Amino acid sequence: MVRHGRPTYLQVGAEYCRGPHAVNDEPFDVVCARSGVTLTVPPGRSILSVARERGIAVISWCAQGVCGTCETEVLAGVPEHRDALLTEEEREASKTMLICVSRCLRGPLVLAL
Ligand code: FES
Repeated sequence: MVRHGRPTYLQVGAEYCRGPHAVNDEPFDVVCARSGVTLTVPPGRSILSVARERGIAVISWCAQGVCGTCETEVLAGVPEHRDALLTEEEREASKTMLICVSRCLRGPLVLAL
């Protein structure tokens, strides 16, 4: 999912440099509803990298939570948003997440992958 009308990487760079909050570095499972695959994401790895390793095609550009190209629909569960792009309202709604940096706060996390 590509977002339009968002700030460029340079515009959000200063915000991103403050760094997202790392609350939960525990492993967690992600159910990929479209592909029928369940991923286990270990500490230090992203959903994006584990999904690609399992052959799920995901578009990404920055892999740092700032461009929005990896934005993925959340079907169930609560993400731990670590990106620098979503608004507070979007984080609260948690209808999407940026899978290059964000993790799982409360599962099961089911994504439209
Ligand atoms: S790849 Fe840029 S926000 Fe995820």
